[in-house]
Amino acid sequence: MRPLIAGNWKMNGLSADAPEIEALISAFDGAMPEKIDVLICPPATLLGGLAAAYEDEGVQFGGQDCHSAPSGAHTGEVSAEMLADAGAAFVIVGHSERRSDNGETDAIVRAKAEAALRAGLAPIICVGETEAERDAGRAEAVVAGQLEGSLPRTDGDEIVIAYEPVWAIGTGRTPTLDDIADMHAAIRKIVGDRRRILYGGSVKPGNAAEILRLDDVDGALVGGASLKAADFAAIIRAL
Ligand code: 13P
Repeated sequence: MRPLIAGNWKMNGLSADAPEIEALISAFDGAMPEKIDVLICPPATLLGGLAAAYEDEGVQFGGQDCHSAPSGAHTGEVSAEMLADAGAAFVIVGHSERRSDNGETDAIVRAKAEAALRAGLAPIICVGETEAERDAGRAEAVVAGQLEGSLPRTDGDEIVIAYEPVWAIGTGRTPTLDDIADMHAAIRKIVGDRRRILYGGSVKPGNAAEILRLDDVDGALVGGASLKAADFAAIIRAL
């Protein structure tokens, strides 16, 4: 499986931050590793400009969300087709911040993932339990339920799953390595051998190697540490 290291910039990044991409490429002497997919998901305002400037440099770009419809009267929304037109190859759907901030249900996430496939984008479908659900011993059941409700009904090897425990996002805390391995093995049973499964939640240069070495961890979805080229480069190197 070809590994994928994805950076989710969330609601961060102005045009003045574009040099971070330049610095990332420079960290690899202008030649990004060929055996790894490196993806940056910047805010939609930067996507087109960054993709036009850097997509030939071995960095791919993606959106952080999309609407399920291709176009129409949905003020403020961005469709998967628009992201593809701006140079995206991937789109994150169902991030826990959107599930909680915007009330996105599994059914909405599934519609967005299906829209991504329709537009020729690879959806990165995020799932993950809350701390209370883990404490109650329900983590695997919760994630299985989210997958059941959010996976597109069509096939697609390009579909990527990101396991992001809600309590590990932006907190500096991570599950134990055994817990990550167990969850990824459980997800593998559901999604099969041909789809990549990323781990996300407080991935940093200091813990990336031990996480990325685990069976069934095919890469990482990185938030905070993707904003600084030096940290993101260190995570890519760890892989
Ligand atoms: P952090 O890496 O900042 O914990 O964020 C993870 C995340 O939500 C990526 O989508």
